[in-house]
Amino acid sequence: MKIIFYDAKKYDIESFTKANNSFDYELKFLEFKLTIESAELARGYDAVCVFVNDIVTKEIIDKLTSFGVKIIALRCAGYNNIDFQAAFEKIHVARVPSYSPYAVAEHAIALIMTLNRKTHKAYNRTKESNFNIGGLTGFDLYQKTVGVIGTGKIGQKFINIAKGFGMKVLAYDKFQTEGLNVTYTDLETLYKESDIISLHCPLLKDTEHIINGESIKKMKDGVMLINTSRGGLINAKDLINGLKTRKIGSAGLDVYEEEADYFFEDFSNDMVSDDILARLISFPNVLITSHQAFLTNEALKNIADTTLQNIKNFSLGLEDYNEICYKCNTSTNCPRREAKKCF
Ligand code: NAI
Repeated sequence: MKIIFYDAKKYDIESFTKANNSFDYELKFLEFKLTIESAELARGYDAVCVFVNDIVTKEIIDKLTSFGVKIIALRCAGYNNIDFQAAFEKIHVARVPSYSPYAVAEHAIALIMTLNRKTHKAYNRTKESNFNIGGLTGFDLYQKTVGVIGTGKIGQKFINIAKGFGMKVLAYDKFQTEGLNVTYTDLETLYKESDIISLHCPLLKDTEHIINGESIKKMKDGVMLINTSRGGLINAKDLINGLKTRKIGSAGLDVYEEEADYFFEDFSNDMVSDDILARLISFPNVLITSHQAFLTNEALKNIADTTLQNIKNFSLGLEDYNEICYKCNTSTNCPRREAKKCF
């Protein structure tokens, strides 16, 4: 198999090169994203490997299909960047459903801890020999209520950590997990009672802008909002309004709706022309990280191993290669897959 990688960073090259010792595929790494123009370079390859901000449109899918590319292998869990309706019955799409739910859950906690205890500010102050602690007051997490939207793999790890702090957990999920030791509730109650809200559901049609002006109105004054899932879950303009009116006390964001043009790149000698992102960065009570929640050694290893194994299983004609397709909409518990009706 010949595999071409788009948007490959140094850490991708290292982890995939190492994992490939067990597969011996021909790998080609490109630093830039997959676009209709750069898709041209996939001629002659069997598999195209992409990441979260490679937007795989119908036109790109048609082009890749015409070159004989057989599979698009996502080296991530989320798949909202793929028009998999267009991919259906043309090209196979695989993903890495789980590589380290701990990595993302722990990063969500890191955002909470930093925002709450303002360690980022304390770090800067003491670096300049400023030992004043004025303005650094936080609150005990103990006995506070955290609302978790989405109780899948990451949400569950997050809940376990939150319980370790002695927090009360309220959860909402469209499909509740049986046997999970958590209080499920409706969104209204979760919004009303949570001191912190953390998003762990995928970006789908019914979750797009789940956090908007209306839902923000229902939240507690001073609520902390954490999003390590996908930017499109939050209407960023409404978030800014919520921050300006002080309804939202603080926000920790690892993702942003229009992140594709900025995240993972260095703009320190340039300027950010996205006014919404620039405004968010300007708030002292907003902490933005650029989609790094997944970035641990363990996750990188699992991503590389699973992606190459997916491609291998696919090439061997095995069922189990974490396919997502339009009908399945998920790689797990799909009746079509169980009935082996995926094309
Ligand atoms: P998962 O599939 O295990 O869990 C997602 C949960 O969301 C499921 O329980 C599902 O029932 C629930 N859900 C679906 N529709 C919903 C709705 N309308 N309302 C409420 N809940 C709903 O996924 P996992 O592994 O926990 O990942 C969650 C998300 O985290 C991914 O979709 C991805 O977008 C994001 N992610 C972010 C990373 C980062 O580096 N920032 C890395 C990995 C994943």
